[in-house]
Amino acid sequence: MNNSADYINQKIAPLGIKPDIGIILGSGLGQLANEIDGIKIPYAEIPGFKTSTIQGHAGNLIVGTLNSKSIIAMQGRLHYYEGHTFQEIVYPVRVMKLLGVKTLIVTNAAGGINKSFTPGDLMIIEDHINLTGNNPLIGPNIDSLGVRFPDMSEAYSKNFIDIAEQSAKKLGINLRKGVYIAVTGPSYETPAEIRMFRSLGAEAVGMSTVPEVIAARHAGMDILGISCITNMACGILDQPLCHEEVIQVTKKVEKDFVALVKEVVKAI
Ligand code: HPA
Repeated sequence: MNNSADYINQKIAPLGIKPDIGIILGSGLGQLANEIDGIKIPYAEIPGFKTSTIQGHAGNLIVGTLNSKSIIAMQGRLHYYEGHTFQEIVYPVRVMKLLGVKTLIVTNAAGGINKSFTPGDLMIIEDHINLTGNNPLIGPNIDSLGVRFPDMSEAYSKNFIDIAEQSAKKLGINLRKGVYIAVTGPSYETPAEIRMFRSLGAEAVGMSTVPEVIAARHAGMDILGISCITNMACGILDQPLCHEEVIQVTKKVEKDFVALVKEVVKAI
């Protein structure tokens, strides 16, 4: 981990900044990276980093400033369904911690389980349900990062939720709020699974985010989570799901998404 942090530190030294906000950009949400005034470091260049394999996921770290805040953004993340371990998925979050990041903004594309949602909605993640059957903290505890049994009672900072809600109001964005349930994928869910998730209290379903949030919380970061509802979850509408639809909807909502994150960053 130290070798990755050292490499990044040496690359960003000329910028004279120390990133304190980390952002993970989900499927199709990588455009925000273009708003950051700084440098791009491909994952492939960084010792210890793995690269993502799927459409809509570039693999770059972007370090620079956004609304005069020092940012490190992941343009593209790793997923469990690609064959990566949870430890590999959370590795960049831990490197961010070594670089001094205290705040993590995680974003994703998700299917809407709550029937009042509409594709294109942005949802603040209030809490999550980990249905992946895995946890990035399994194995020897890394005591230098955090404790063996980290508390998850406020996985998503209430303060940041307030800030996001105020920011959305200011921008005239209709923001949703709800519980995100994480599954492994890559197959989408069945209608019966979606009915079960609804009865469990979930509002949106996706295949990412939860491992990174657990590792970030373990390392003492404060977290804001934003889901882009790209489609209604399986069985709600009488139509099959496809990844192209997910990418198309994120493109449509990208303007609002970028505006919201910029406003939140300013207020944090
Ligand atoms: N299910 C799981 N993951 C997703 C979905 C979905 O419907 N949409 C975007 N990511």
